[in-house]
Amino acid sequence: MQRKQHLFIPGPTPVPPEVAAAMTQPVIGHRSSEYASLQRYLVQQVKKVFQTENDLFILTSSGTGAMEAAITNCVNPGDKVLALITGQFGKRFAEIAEQCGAKVERLEFPWGKPVDLEAVKATLDSGPLPQAVLVTHNETSTGVVNNVQGLGALLKDTPALLLVDAVSSMGAMDIRTDEWGVDFMVTGSQKAFMMPPGLAFLSVSPKGWEAVANVTPRSFYFDLAAWRKNGVKGFAPWTPNVSLLFGLKKALELMLGEGLDSVWSRHKRWAQGVRAGLRGMGLEPVAEDPWASHTVTAAFVPEGKADTLRALVKQQFGLCLAGGKGKLDGKVLRFSHMGYVDELEILGALAVLELGLRQLGQKVQLGRGVAQAQAVFAQGVRNHG
Ligand SMILES: Cc1ncc(COP(=O)(O)O)c(C=O)c1O
Repeated sequence: MQRKQHLFIPGPTPVPPEVAAAMTQPVIGHRSSEYASLQRYLVQQVKKVFQTENDLFILTSSGTGAMEAAITNCVNPGDKVLALITGQFGKRFAEIAEQCGAKVERLEFPWGKPVDLEAVKATLDSGPLPQAVLVTHNETSTGVVNNVQGLGALLKDTPALLLVDAVSSMGAMDIRTDEWGVDFMVTGSQKAFMMPPGLAFLSVSPKGWEAVANVTPRSFYFDLAAWRKNGVKGFAPWTPNVSLLFGLKKALELMLGEGLDSVWSRHKRWAQGVRAGLRGMGLEPVAEDPWASHTVTAAFVPEGKADTLRALVKQQFGLCLAGGKGKLDGKVLRFSHMGYVDELEILGALAVLELGLRQLGQKVQLGRGVAQAQAVFAQGVRNHG
């Protein structure tokens, strides 16, 4: 039998059996009244996770598609865009804007650190305001969370738009789209929503729509005016992935049935436990506690052994961890604690890592990391992080 892949990568994440089963229902016509009810219902439910009253669209694409949809609909070629970069995914957002013809100013921060709001303020004060500011809420390459609330406050009452990539955090963290003033909020299905890849969610504020009205959309598929016109009727402009939508209904039932507060605090506890566990075996997280992600932890592996360790635990135990990206290539492993995962699985993954490190000749006291993680799980959520 092929070895099971135990997914501890930051997406795709494990899919609950109920969600997988829901996707086997017979497909229904996407112009039927049953479909319209389903789409309307799903939009309302996803809005609860986004904490938004804004328009929200369920796109048939991965998260990158929704990032591109946001930019192509609110930025004209030649417009100035400020990209705040704290890692690989911030870079990607900037690249999308550049490819769409924007004049991109990059404000880069050291990897492992969050966006420095003072630096952003100084940049905004020093020149003409950008049409849009791009930021990654949860930088998956470093495990850092950025202060979107603070950015929203800086941009409030200015014409500049705030575009946020929350692909690896929405659904796992308390993200207040409207309260924080986010004009375009983006996420994907294969992370905290416990779904397979293939859907992206995008919300658009009234200020965002004003910008859309002044832009000639450069994407036919992602022309948001078409999505809005069809959305009023409960439809998507093009054929949606109905099977994934059945799964999404079940996934949202699980998330909202548990209660978002519980989902968020569970992720925070897991993050704290994993960080304690990794430290217990000598693997220091890249991000410091105050800005640590609740969904993914990147940790340094000594002596350039990160990729060897990942290969070893995958081959021996089927434990799938992600590697470093960009500047952190070969230096870190990334351990996801997001979505459909529980303490037993996390402790098992930590135990396997200890065994792997031991095999690679690292001095590891077996069980120490596991015990430190368990101590955190037993305590509940600490107040920081
Ligand atoms: C923060 C962030 N942004 C964007 C993406 C890209 O999303 P997708 O692979 O769904 O296109 C990812 C994927 O890991 C991500 O973590």
